[in-house]
Amino acid sequence: MRRPILTANWKMHKTVAEAEGFVDAFLPRIATVRDVEIVLAVPFTVLDRVGQRLKGSAVQLAAQNVHPEAGGAFTAEIAVGMLADLGCRYAIVGHSERRSLFGEADEFIARKAAALLGGGLLPIVCVGESLGEREAERTFEVVRRQLEASLARVPKERAAEIVIAYEPVWAIGTGRTATPESAQEVHAFIRERLVERFGGAGAQIRLQYGGSVKPENVYALMKQPEIDGALVGGASLDPESFARLVSFEAQGESQ
Ligand code: PGA
Repeated sequence: MRRPILTANWKMHKTVAEAEGFVDAFLPRIATVRDVEIVLAVPFTVLDRVGQRLKGSAVQLAAQNVHPEAGGAFTAEIAVGMLADLGCRYAIVGHSERRSLFGEADEFIARKAAALLGGGLLPIVCVGESLGEREAERTFEVVRRQLEASLARVPKERAAEIVIAYEPVWAIGTGRTATPESAQEVHAFIRERLVERFGGAGAQIRLQYGGSVKPENVYALMKQPEIDGALVGGASLDPESFARLVSFEAQGESQ
């Protein structure tokens, strides 16, 4: 059984005071949630203080990016060891905003994923097609290429531990969610590729959907057989909203 995993991606939002306020409001709201892994991917500047606040809870801390080198002359970059030092369990790599706005290529993303595994953290590797690629019916080709290249350095014996996030770029921050059925179709395709590449371990990898996930649509997405979680941007910024998201079973009952 793959354990559901919901990750908040705060992107470039929240001061220290705002982040601490979120955690203080969020933790009591999720006190009764069981069998769901909850992850907060927060800006580097609040990792330390959010990590302190999360101590004693089951909520995991994550970074939104990392540099593959262990250290050196890489001005403004952050190494895996620095994230481990702050108690991070995960780091997002290859988010479409990193790919499109900062020119990150699959090879660089592959090095980051391998560095995380080598340093005791786990990568959340993002893939997903743009609107143009979807309209040109290139979704499967693009996702296949991104998967193959981004996971090129993941050893088979560690594969089961990684997380993949499928985020169609046209659904991110647009309010335009993929339908549960079309998300499932791509997830099933990703699952086949992972099993081809990693054998049985590929069936254990958790697949998150991302792109305008909200309390109102999370249940239908999570009910799809190959959707094991969600990577949530906008709707993760408010503690009440993200608490409703991680309680997705209750959302289903109320719909
Ligand atoms: P969104 O962002 O939920 O605001 O669409 C998702 C993401 O980019 O991870």
